Amino acid sequence: MTLLDVEAIDGYYGESHIIQDLSLSVDDGEITALLGRNGAGKTSTLRCIAGATPPDVRSGRIQFDGTDITDEPPEDIAVRGISLVPEERRVFSDLTVAENLHLADTVRNKANTLWRDLNFRDEGMSTSDIYEYFPRLNERRSQKAGTLSGGEQQMLAIARALHQSTDLLMLDEPYEGLAPQIIEAVENAIRRISEDGTTILLVEQNALAAMKIADRCYVLDRGRVVFEGPAEELQADQETREKYLGV
Ligand SMILES: Nc1ncnc2c1ncn2[C@@H]1O[C@H](COP(=O)(O)OP(=O)(O)OP(=O)(O)O)[C@@H](O)[C@H]1O
Ligand SMILES: [Mg+2]
Repeated sequence: MTLLDVEAIDGYYGESHIIQDLSLSVDDGEITALLGRNGAGKTSTLRCIAGATPPDVRSGRIQFDGTDITDEPPEDIAVRGISLVPEERRVFSDLTVAENLHLADTVRNKANTLWRDLNFRDEGMSTSDIYEYFPRLNERRSQKAGTLSGGEQQMLAIARALHQSTDLLMLDEPYEGLAPQIIEAVENAIRRISEDGTTILLVEQNALAAMKIADRCYVLDRGRVVFEGPAEELQADQETREKYLGV
């Protein structure tokens, strides 16, 4: 079943037409990878889906779980169960791991009362479940987030996102700047989150690592989709890989 359906959207930063006639769909329960070089439009695509502006979506339609969310504000989209972990991994540096998670919990409860009319389901993951996914965070619960390693900060950013009810988890370059061994730890966490039923849209520059865990892949170039298909198909398509991904 299709969970997210992006239909022929055009996205603009001012007059610059960055996302061009872009369509993609994400099936329930799958890991879908969105790949492409620097500036291809990956982050912009995630921002369009999350309702963040800019870019402005001037045509096309985005449907989530059968509902048209194209013109909804980002708070409403978040409440519907779409979480975005941005490239910058926004964690509160001066707060401990536990405090970061507690804050996410408070925000969730507040959202719960504010947007009850949107049929908010209080299904966010509990702190103890989160610590089970990320034992490393449990060990470091009283450490200030700013002193965590890059990989640990990535785990905390994902953990915060999971604290709110999440049906679709969008990760923007979770492997960026991480050593291979840490990539593996984050990768395992993503796999488990997926196996437990959360649908994932994974943006990565590290195409080889992303193809390994993805079911389906999209490749973007200058704001357009230039490849879509099963991960195995992309793995076997040397021409596309060399031309658009440099691998
Ligand atoms: N706020 C903005 N205003 C104007 N142009 C922007 C803005 N944000 C991004 N762009 C442009 O849109 C294009 C796509 O950028 P985007 O960040 O989506 O690429 P990306 O695929 O995520 O790249 P990277 O892998 O480097 O993160 C780039 O040419 C970028 O310069
Ligand atoms: Mg980006």
